[in-house]
Amino acid sequence: MAAASPSDPEFLSRYGRWALISGASEGTGAEFSLQAAAKGLNLILVARRADKLAELADRIRATHGVDVVTVSLDLSQPGAMAALREAVEGRDLGLVVFNAGGDSVGGRFLDSPYEAWQSLTRRNVDLLTEACHFFATRFVTRGRGGIVLVGSEAALGGTGRLAIYTATKGYMCNLGESLWKELKPRGVDVLNLLIGATDTPKLRTVFAKNKLPLDAVPLTTSAEVARIGLAKLGQGPTVVLSAAEDSDNPLVSARVRRERVEWQSRFLDNFYGPSE
Ligand SMILES: NC(=O)c1ccc[n+]([C@@H]2O[C@H](COP(=O)([O-])OP(=O)(O)OC[C@H]3O[C@@H](n4cnc5c(N)ncnc54)[C@H](OP(=O)(O)O)[C@@H]3O)[C@@H](O)[C@H]2O)c1
Repeated sequence: MAAASPSDPEFLSRYGRWALISGASEGTGAEFSLQAAAKGLNLILVARRADKLAELADRIRATHGVDVVTVSLDLSQPGAMAALREAVEGRDLGLVVFNAGGDSVGGRFLDSPYEAWQSLTRRNVDLLTEACHFFATRFVTRGRGGIVLVGSEAALGGTGRLAIYTATKGYMCNLGESLWKELKPRGVDVLNLLIGATDTPKLRTVFAKNKLPLDAVPLTTSAEVARIGLAKLGQGPTVVLSAAEDSDNPLVSARVRRERVEWQSRFLDNFYGPSE
């Protein structure tokens, strides 16, 4: 089915016609999907639960009249990248949102076997890196595209009971900032979206398990996360959702982080010669 009268032709021409969204079956991923479809993009929805994906796909087709395909896939398993490659084959992909990335293990480092943590590093580091290489290559070839990395304020430093999660989110943040610098001149936008506590089904499960009320901490809505992620895609490298626009805190200020990446990249000219 062809997309019906896109509400955002400018976004569509820059990041269309297809978007791939990982972790699309609920929460922020589902919201990214709904909002990208509202802009007129066709969608490839990726997550493990096929029934949830099918339900969302039906809803999106009915509401927005775009094409939607679903891919039921565990991103921490070997072969995940091959399945992603196959899913985008022959489709004019312009946007990728890496959203699946929550702490699927949880707790202290030594309280879970290494193999459990390895499933997290496989999805949040290994697969992420391979997928960025593959999709960025395609986007550079066509001269345009966008990559949204749904990160966390946990990327900003280590935290007890979040060792591997903060480590992988820190990796993602540094990768995103570096790719922003390298890919921007080649027509590709990269955005790290560092979010704090957000009302997702996954977070609700964690609160329920620990018998905590939902208002234990202030929560951002998933819809707001997706709205800001799509709106700020061209304003990378890093947006920390909770930071004030005029903040000059070097950890969270979008401006100061951007200036650091620019400065540090220029400094490297002293070692490798001019980059551009
Ligand atoms: N919620 C928060 O408070 C919060 C705070 C900071 C950052 N974040 C970030 O926001 C993003 C979304 O978080 P979330 O709370 O919704 O939790 P999440 O565990 O990342 O779940 C999000 C989606 O990812 C899918 N998913 C998880 N593991 C997968 C895997 N191995 N393969 C394929 N799909 C997988 C889930 O669907 P299936 O179960 O169907 O696969 C779900 O649709 C994550 O990157 C997280 O780090 C969230």
